[in-house]
Amino acid sequence: MKKYSFLLFSLMCVAALQAQNGLRSLYSPDKSVKIVVGLSPKSGEPFYTLSYYGKPISNGKLGFKAVDADFSQNFIWKQTTTGASDQVWKPVWGEVASIRDNYKELTMHLENSSGKMNIHFRAYNNGIGFRYEFPDQPRKEVAISDEVTEFTMTSDHTAWWIPGDYDSNEHVYTTCKISAIDNTPYEKETSISTKHIVDRYAVQTPITMRAANGTHIVIAEAALVDFAALHLMADPKDLRFKANLIPSAVPNIKSINKTPFHSPWRAILLAKNAAGILNSKLILNLNEPCKIEGDLSWIKPQKYVGIWWEMHVNKSTWDYAGSQSAVSFQDNLKPSGKHGATTANTKKYIDFAAKHGFDGVLVEGWNLGWENWFGKWKDEVFDFTKAYPDYDIDELSRYAKEKGVKIIMHHETSAAVPSYERQMDDAYAFMKKHGMNSVKTGYVGRIIPRGEWHDGQWMVNHYVRVAERTARNQIMLDAHEPVRPSGLQRTWPNWLACEAARGQEFNAWSAGNPPEHETILPFTRLLGGPMDYTPGIFQIEVNQFDPNKKERVHSTVAKQLALYVTLYSPLQMAADLPENYEKRLDVFQFIKDVPVDWSDSKVLNASIGDYLTIARHQKGTQNWFLGSITDENARNFNVKLDFLQAGKVYEATIYEDGVGADWLKNPYPVNIRKIQVRKGQNLSLQLAAGGGCAISFIAK
Ligand code: NOJ
Ligand code: CA
Repeated sequence: MKKYSFLLFSLMCVAALQAQNGLRSLYSPDKSVKIVVGLSPKSGEPFYTLSYYGKPISNGKLGFKAVDADFSQNFIWKQTTTGASDQVWKPVWGEVASIRDNYKELTMHLENSSGKMNIHFRAYNNGIGFRYEFPDQPRKEVAISDEVTEFTMTSDHTAWWIPGDYDSNEHVYTTCKISAIDNTPYEKETSISTKHIVDRYAVQTPITMRAANGTHIVIAEAALVDFAALHLMADPKDLRFKANLIPSAVPNIKSINKTPFHSPWRAILLAKNAAGILNSKLILNLNEPCKIEGDLSWIKPQKYVGIWWEMHVNKSTWDYAGSQSAVSFQDNLKPSGKHGATTANTKKYIDFAAKHGFDGVLVEGWNLGWENWFGKWKDEVFDFTKAYPDYDIDELSRYAKEKGVKIIMHHETSAAVPSYERQMDDAYAFMKKHGMNSVKTGYVGRIIPRGEWHDGQWMVNHYVRVAERTARNQIMLDAHEPVRPSGLQRTWPNWLACEAARGQEFNAWSAGNPPEHETILPFTRLLGGPMDYTPGIFQIEVNQFDPNKKERVHSTVAKQLALYVTLYSPLQMAADLPENYEKRLDVFQFIKDVPVDWSDSKVLNASIGDYLTIARHQKGTQNWFLGSITDENARNFNVKLDFLQAGKVYEATIYEDGVGADWLKNPYPVNIRKIQVRKGQNLSLQLAAGGGCAISFIAK
């Protein structure tokens, strides 16, 4: 007996000793991903190392500094708990019909003189997630001043990044080695109205990298709720990224939370190639399941048109009087004759939507406030329940209903958020009364409350509040200028899309988006969630209404079609003007046919910043759709139609760059041809410089 208890005692000592000073390893289910965690022996600082197929990927310190506490060192490792999970769940909408969530987990339970902090790790076959948990403890609140988390890379990878701007993600991506990261050139960017970049080495997440052996690595954030967004500070010399949380209006405080709470997930996505990154569902898996209870059939992926591009290309205006200097609408404004959101014009769009099978019509510039909003940084500008006199909302609600089309509400807040929050309930009730169930919000300008930033904790809470509140009202949401998404569409599937990146609009009034832009977005910004990019511009040169306009869309027309497949979103706009579509109804047919909800997606080829070809299976049918896009270089691809169902014949309608097409010299020609195909056949795709190819495969 004595002997045995001695043995037991020594075993316990070993466990305790190991727990304090040792290392613990966590492997993914297939063992390809390995995390080793520990505390540094001298200073009790938590750290991790990550490897993939035996090759080191990233390592670094973990923890936080707080205003009156330190959760980064002198820890005692009290306990380790482990677990595993393997489940399948079905998203309400998405790129695939079901998603496997399969991981092993390990939690370090740490304590120091400041209090208790656990670090929870999950190892997946395609990456890791970890987050910090502050359990119930005597300390009731933690005011975080800095996150010390590091991601030190093991060699000088190629990286795709945008600057760590507190207020905007609407930047062009830079491709360079980690050692060359420096955002100074972004100082020259003048088309972003609200930007705030404080450090030349600041970058945003997700940041995507490619190692020399082809391994792709993404540092990202998942489930950003009640916390400041995770940006990174690059140390190009040491190939290190350190967490850089967006500040709040209170000096020194990045995030303030009551215990118990946990941080959002920090994620590292891993894949052997670029396609593997697109197949990853890790960010969604790290998010909480759907929180909307009951019937979800009101949540519908949709295609829409709208009174929108015509303002961006100077055909019409958002405001009623053609003036930006009034203090309020009550200043006796006279109509300028250029107002876009009139009853007659809206009817024209409703007719067009009804005729061509679109679900919605977005109307911007319908409400009071546009005479005095831009760049003013003041509250109480917009009224979300008062229409301009030339917009007969009762008549339009009736007309839209008769035509079977939904008007999409627009709430430009000009980032005057308290004013929006005060009006929210009334605004949603007003929408319901007028038969509307989708809203596009917008946050152009500097944030009110002054001192807060678009990506700070206060705004993060606002965006989630809007998602919750719209869900409660059975309203679908599309947010422009929010923090970039982090997979919350799993939890709030009514939140169909965000802008949160440089969208098509930049092609209308700035140097625009280079031809490679859309070949980078899916590997960076889109990893967190769908984007309302607004593809489908046919009139590539945008001087139709203003001969002085030199701007243009940086693609061929065929590529505009392909974007409906390559840029996944359950909310897609046909962004051009009805009159431009009427001129090319044969080409427009693809936009009419392409769906916005999929049961499966196959990446056929991919190279970030160069090209991308995806085939997707339309939910509930046998049909497939393919999109292929290239950067400024012309390319030929041979794709094997392995994804089609065996034994079926499909009619493939191919929309390809026509003879002589070129994004800059000749963007317009589209060649349309129909062929019959079967599974296993090869198809050759010819993409012009800045071009693309779109194909519908309709099962016969
Ligand atoms: C910027 C948005 O991205 C755009 O879609 C909208 O038209 C304008 N703000 C006006 O709200
Ligand atoms: Ca925008």
